[in-house]
Amino acid sequence: MNTARKQLFLNYKGGTGKTSISSAYGYCLAKAGKKVLMVDLDAQAHLTTCFNQELIPHDKSLYSVILNDGNIKDIISSTSLANLKLIPSSISLSALELPLFGIYLREYRLRRVLKEVEKDFDYIIMDSAPAIGLLSLNAILAADEVLIPLLADFLSFHGLKILLETLSSIERDFNFYLDRIHIFLNRYNPEYPVCLECREAVDKFYPEYSLKTVISESREIIDASSMGKSVFELYPESKIAEDIKNLVDEINNPVKKPEGKELGHEEKVRV
Ligand SMILES: Nc1ncnc2c1ncn2[C@@H]1O[C@H](COP(=O)(O)OP(=O)(O)OP(=O)(O)O)[C@@H](O)[C@H]1O
Ligand SMILES: [Mg+2]
Repeated sequence: MNTARKQLFLNYKGGTGKTSISSAYGYCLAKAGKKVLMVDLDAQAHLTTCFNQELIPHDKSLYSVILNDGNIKDIISSTSLANLKLIPSSISLSALELPLFGIYLREYRLRRVLKEVEKDFDYIIMDSAPAIGLLSLNAILAADEVLIPLLADFLSFHGLKILLETLSSIERDFNFYLDRIHIFLNRYNPEYPVCLECREAVDKFYPEYSLKTVISESREIIDASSMGKSVFELYPESKIAEDIKNLVDEINNPVKKPEGKELGHEEKVRV
């Protein structure tokens, strides 16, 4: 029986598009017929808000499931699509780290609870908070793949180096290996030289992780998240909807070269 591919949107830098892009990405996969579970790992609960879900009470949250071995199935909510589910977040997640420290195998709690449902889904898409800490370490150790949205500016590029070094040291320390890491530029505007320079720099320094797809700067995605709707519901013909489809395809359905070699797969598989 298949188990879900667990994909984590991660960037310790805030505001790079983890939530906006992961919500649209998960919706796009679900629209294509995949069974998708979205997991909101940020106490700000923005992913939850994107799906227009009410914030959930403390006793029925990921906080209690992780800490008290509760049943994860009890906290899965529905969305406007039958095959797209959500584990909502709430402010209680911000209080998780301290009690988690006292728990045996604390780094693997999320991985363990997600195992309970990984056979029910094709994809588990996690949206992390912009924070280095035990919860984001749990998310990394629960993931098969990491997707890094990057803004085209110097500080973001500097942050990327630190993030990749951190991932390498986690891999070394925990003897754990991510299958793949994908980096893509968000809020891309080809009229800005800095966007072109940043794209070149990612291709040059991180060719094994760099995606061809870029996500355009878009007014539609801002509107959609403020209305608690997907950009695919409100603006299915928009450029950003096309970009997100390309992102989903490049990551999940790599194009075959004529001789049968997959593009964007072997090159990115980590050894
Ligand atoms: N492609 C885009 N075009 C225009 N605006 C965007 C785009 N992607 C994200 N934004 C806007 O940028 C802001 C930050 O996006 P978002 O909340 O998704 O980032 P984040 O990485 O999840 O932030 P945090 O680190 O706080 O969780 C939001 O106002 C969002 O609407
Ligand atoms: Mg976010």
